Amino acid sequence: MDVVKMLDEKVSRRGLIKGAAGIAGVAALTMGGLGLLSKVEAAKTSYATLPWPYKKFTAAEIKEAGNIAHDNWFKHFCSFAALSGGVEILRRKVGGPYNSFPMELTSFAHGGTAGWGATCGTLIGSGVLATLCAGPKIGEQIANEVCNFYATSALPIFVPDHPKAQIKTTSVSDSPVCHLSVGKWMKKEGVGFLSPQQMDRCGRVAADMCMRTLEYLNLWADGKFEPKTKAPFMANEIPSQNNCTDCHGDKIPQTSGKFGTGLDLLKGGH
Ligand code: HEC
Repeated sequence: MDVVKMLDEKVSRRGLIKGAAGIAGVAALTMGGLGLLSKVEAAKTSYATLPWPYKKFTAAEIKEAGNIAHDNWFKHFCSFAALSGGVEILRRKVGGPYNSFPMELTSFAHGGTAGWGATCGTLIGSGVLATLCAGPKIGEQIANEVCNFYATSALPIFVPDHPKAQIKTTSVSDSPVCHLSVGKWMKKEGVGFLSPQQMDRCGRVAADMCMRTLEYLNLWADGKFEPKTKAPFMANEIPSQNNCTDCHGDKIPQTSGKFGTGLDLLKGGH
């Protein structure tokens, strides 16, 4: 069952309905209903305030964001680090809403959400960064690309100006999951959790995700961002990654197989 296709069809059906509303809208306008119409338009979306203004980062600013992210890991860990690397510079470049935005918003996501070893916090922080700057739809597309980059790259890549430890190895996680990613790396490096090396490695990964997100935002600002990664979600009738065999071997458990009948409950566009 191709869920992506089903969702696409649903969205384009909505597009048709919107088109019809557009015609009604023109009628309302000619009847002098401008004030009413704009209020209705504003109420229709709960995302009225996103995206916030974005100004392209220079290569030097992207590197600076990486260094801020790395250094900020040692304040509130990974998720805060990835988010604050971008926001600190946006405060300087753009100001406005970024000045009062609480960068600690995603601090809870460290250690794969409050230490539960689930999704790497850098992906939550950088996803929030992308969503603030590009809105929820493009933000999700950028987050999907960044997850793919995270899962398929030998990390960390970034070398900070002020490392707290020297590290020897990189590793590919094959997954956006915190404990798989950091676990595979610690095994290869031969160090334990909360060693200076592990901490510096996670700071560098926060920098990598922050910088990659900014690169995608720059592309988007130029009208050149094209989502390439097909979300693996529901590839197995369940939100998923492409690593089922790692733990389950050839016998990937099946769910009930009853799937997809709730899509009509979705409201407000995905
Ligand atoms: C990191 C290891 C790991 C990975 C990777 C993984 N699983 Fe699991 N999965 C588990 C564990 C552990 C359980 C719980 C098994 C139990 O309690 O008997 C589980 C349970 C499940 C269940 C619930 C039914 C059952 O038999 O317990 C389903 C369905 C499932 N996994 C599907 C998948 C699919 C599909 C993928 C790939 C997208 C996947 N899993 C990847 C570890 C993993």
